[in-house]
Amino acid sequence: SHDGEVDENSKHEQLDEVRENSEGEELTSDHGVKISDTDNSLKAGERGPTIMEDFHFREKMTQFDHESIPERVVHARGTGAHGYFQPYEDPDLGDEYNDIEELTKAKVLTDPDQKTPVFTRFSTVVGSRGSSDTVRDVRGFATKFYTEDGNWDLVGNNMPIFFIQDAMEFPDLVHAIKPEPDDSIPQASAAHDTFWDFASLKPEITHMIMWVLSGRALPRAYRMMQGFGVHTFRLVNEEGDSKFVKFHWTPKLGTHQLVWDETTKLWGKSSDFNRKGLYDVIEEGYDPEWELGVQIFDEEQAEEFDFDVLDPTKIVPETEVPVRPIGKMVLNETPDNFFAEVEQVAFHPGNVVPGIDFSNDPLLQGRLFSYQDTQLNRFGSANWDEIPINRPVAERHNNQRAGFMRQEINVGKATYKPNSIDDDDPQEVPEEEGGYEHYAEKIDGKKIRNRSDSFEEHFDQARLFWNSMSEPEKQNLVDAAHFELGNVDRMEIRERMVYDLFNNVDHEFATRVAEGIGVDPPESPGDEMPDHDREDPSLSMENRT
Ligand code: HEM
Repeated sequence: SHDGEVDENSKHEQLDEVRENSEGEELTSDHGVKISDTDNSLKAGERGPTIMEDFHFREKMTQFDHESIPERVVHARGTGAHGYFQPYEDPDLGDEYNDIEELTKAKVLTDPDQKTPVFTRFSTVVGSRGSSDTVRDVRGFATKFYTEDGNWDLVGNNMPIFFIQDAMEFPDLVHAIKPEPDDSIPQASAAHDTFWDFASLKPEITHMIMWVLSGRALPRAYRMMQGFGVHTFRLVNEEGDSKFVKFHWTPKLGTHQLVWDETTKLWGKSSDFNRKGLYDVIEEGYDPEWELGVQIFDEEQAEEFDFDVLDPTKIVPETEVPVRPIGKMVLNETPDNFFAEVEQVAFHPGNVVPGIDFSNDPLLQGRLFSYQDTQLNRFGSANWDEIPINRPVAERHNNQRAGFMRQEINVGKATYKPNSIDDDDPQEVPEEEGGYEHYAEKIDGKKIRNRSDSFEEHFDQARLFWNSMSEPEKQNLVDAAHFELGNVDRMEIRERMVYDLFNNVDHEFATRVAEGIGVDPPESPGDEMPDHDREDPSLSMENRT
């Protein structure tokens, strides 16, 4: 039913229409014919060959042969759960904005009486679908909000920044970190030459590398993990005014990590540790909860920062702009069918609703193209938006009619606009009545392939991160660098990491890393890399960690 109202159960009710429980039912073919024997193929004679006519064999086998679809090119391994999001009553946004409705017209974020159904998928990034959970990696934290104004996807990670500044670099980053092309090794780890080679030549990666070497890359449980939208987004209100926003998920249970020794044992003992943990707690009734927080700032404030808010390798420090909690998410139901729900869910940062808009962050801008494009590959063709887990609970009416596996039977003759034949065909909606209108940001410039000067500084926030740590946390980071770089064969890559990146962050940090990986420690901050001849640029196996 579509009366415009969405509540906590809206998505469940919609999914109930396609849930199929075969328990105790008669066995049939895919076309509904009752089957008398599903163990034996039809043969020509007592011990003869199988014959073509056996429609049941052919159907059963064909279906099986086509059971797998391409895994996600990144974030292949994950798990997910259903739940709801509910805004808080009168969130305290500080003196400047006491009313969240002054900031955004997105009802999903403002109406405390509205519980919006959500589906959240957590993932590792590098490993294939069958790899291990407890690897050193970033974790994906993607939430689909099935709002009454359409689907909003907040496709975030468990770290507040990213490796690179421009989407153009993403294929290079992923080629470097994925298993190497000749031997497909290693399966799910960054500890290899190609990744650290790329990193050592990309100073902008430094801040993210510090996070990846920290305990943040080893979450204890998905329910004990923060989430971040990473990019600066926009909130837009009824008047069309906009402020910048950063989104933060904070777990009610606190943020916790495993230690390295635990993770390596878990690779062997329970490679599904994080995935199983999520199902277990929900099935036992301990529904995990996160608070959604926002950092709000305007163009003038953004101008004051000594970094660019469009640069995704930078945080907006909470000392500058506090995180204001505005609502909570509870995950309270595990999927019935992993493939139909977790595997087939398709997130896209471009899925936004009125009141939420993009910034010009060049990484975000590129993502707005990549997700739909990759999903064409993953699902084979269009219409994945009609699959139950992706289908909005908001009404959908437009002139799409066709394509592979069309599920809806759309009625009417005219599938174009304008037309004079179907006078009740779907009508455009003005902005005042809820039609999506992109924020009318003024742009005036020359076409230019570049990197803004305001994206130039790469080490200040990495240093802030290092300095924020206690000694045991620092030691964890150093140990992680020893393991990671200790698995790099080429000495010059180890040296570049120490001299070109870490020594620009902190001299003590660079020295401590160097000492564990056979690199001559830099004598002072800012030292150039030693220019010496290496007899053999590769290290022998004995020198490896
Ligand atoms: C998944 C591209 C940066 C978070 C993906 C997928 C692609 C992709 C192709 C697979 C999607 C699918 O098959 O459905 C990119 C590109 C990026 C980028 C081109 C940069 C230019 C980021 C950043 C974040 C992020 C910065 C975090 C803020 C995720 C998550 C998923 C994902 C969470 C998994 C979604 C799921 O659970 O299905 N990305 N990504 N990505 N990406 Fe990105």
